[in-house]
Amino acid sequence: MKIVVATLSAFIMSITVQNAVASDCAPGARVVKFSHVTGGTTHPKVVAANNFAARVNKELSGVLCVEVYPNSTLFGDSKELEALLLGDVQFLAPSLSKFGSYTKKLGVFDLPFIFKDMDAAIRFTNGKVGKSLLNSMEDVGFVGLGYWMSGMKYFSANKPLLLPSDAKGLKFRVQTSDVAKAMIDAMGASPQPMAFAEVYGALQTGVVDGQENTWSNIYTKKFFEVQDSTTETNHQLLAYLFMTSKEFLDSLKPDVRAKLAMIADEVTQEANESVKAAEAKNRQNILDAGGKIRTLTPEQRKAWVDAMKPVWKQFEGEIGKDIIDAAAGS
Ligand code: SIN
Repeated sequence: MKIVVATLSAFIMSITVQNAVASDCAPGARVVKFSHVTGGTTHPKVVAANNFAARVNKELSGVLCVEVYPNSTLFGDSKELEALLLGDVQFLAPSLSKFGSYTKKLGVFDLPFIFKDMDAAIRFTNGKVGKSLLNSMEDVGFVGLGYWMSGMKYFSANKPLLLPSDAKGLKFRVQTSDVAKAMIDAMGASPQPMAFAEVYGALQTGVVDGQENTWSNIYTKKFFEVQDSTTETNHQLLAYLFMTSKEFLDSLKPDVRAKLAMIADEVTQEANESVKAAEAKNRQNILDAGGKIRTLTPEQRKAWVDAMKPVWKQFEGEIGKDIIDAAAGS
């Protein structure tokens, strides 16, 4: 019996290690884990997480060694935040839409059409209010190291979407965000919260009719293959909280903590400088692979804005008017 258990656990370990990005940990280094849910080679989060690991492993060689587990191979959406608090993983970069059970304030990032583009979102995150939100979950034990932009979001469905009325009656996969759910309701459609890893299968089998995401996610997860088309609605931001736990940070010597913070800042800046190019490349990758992209006339776009604008008022109480005003004015 013991042999069977040992063989099974060796097999599981070998799968896990194959899925992680290989790292050459210097002897004596403390091995720590970075788990995330995205995949491919051109995705901005994949690139940023790998850059962070490469820099830590070089500049803190022999002290810390980061192993990256992409594609939900270590923890998926539903377990990763809990795993961070339990010390089973040390770095994450979840979408800002996934913190609803810890804080309502980050819901500001989900408000439809609040940011004109990613530059506006970067200005907000670099400002006083945005910076204060970075550590809005300190009481829980989460420490924000930086915001990583991912891109603006676009709706795709199994039929053409040009007006919000085209979405009436359809089922859309959303992240676990009350704001996203309200936004889909406002379109007369039905929101289906679901883990990222399950989206392709759900679109393919018709469990849902559509979804909303960035070019990088639509390309690297191949959603375009199982949808009629994607419409350039630009309706919402997708950004990540690059984060760790207070417990982990407190366990580091002050000089190591300072070096880590410096690397995190530099990697964050680099990631946000290159995200627009990554998005443009993945948009083109979708077209090159045969995916269809629909654009909107100014009148059609206005219809989407008008349909979704009431959602802001609905969440003003729990997010805070001051936070909404700061984001909208950025
Ligand atoms: C991610 O980009 O991390 C996942 C976003 C999603 O769940 O749609």
